[in-house]
Amino acid sequence: MKQWPFIAGAVLVSLLLWVGASAPPKTSSPTKEFMRAKLGHSQSVLEGLALEDFNLVLNHARRLGAMSREMSWRAFDNPDYAQHSENFRRSVDALTKAATDHNLDGATLAYFKVTLSCVECHKYVRGKKVADLNPPRPAARDAMAQPSSENKNQPRVTS
Ligand code: HEC
Repeated sequence: MKQWPFIAGAVLVSLLLWVGASAPPKTSSPTKEFMRAKLGHSQSVLEGLALEDFNLVLNHARRLGAMSREMSWRAFDNPDYAQHSENFRRSVDALTKAATDHNLDGATLAYFKVTLSCVECHKYVRGKKVADLNPPRPAARDAMAQPSSENKNQPRVTS
């Protein structure tokens, strides 16, 4: 059964997903519901992969892609968050393409990348929340507000 390594991998990914997704701090209710829905869709994608049901994968991958384009997705308005969102979309697009081609290995790999981008963005969001609780002193904040210096030297997460 050549599928077994993938099923084992998928189980690992779901564990990672659960750990990563359960970590962000709480938000207001509608946003919370919206954000939580991502978890349901990614679990359904995993189910589709494990059962080689490409329609199930496609259905929920498309929902994830559509969600990432909605207003509620934009919890933060800054270049880093936009970059994380872009990485997420790129991986979801790869997942959609592989599922359309009935490429199970490719779809499983893309799903892994989607999962990584969930976790990466959540790490960023948690860091940002901590930073917002400890704002820089006014002088430092003015310096940071200069458009030229903003986020220039931040490392980018690439997929
Ligand atoms: C581009 C950034 C980004 C990506 C990618 C992302 N999320 Fe989130 N997620 C957020 C933000 C922002 C929150 C809200 C955090 C907060 O409560 O302040 C959140 C919250 C959550 C929550 C908690 C909701 C609650 O109950 O409060 C879950 C679950 C979740 N995301 C699942 C996922 C899953 C699964 C994926 C990948 C398929 C994913 N997210 C990808 C930004 C992202």
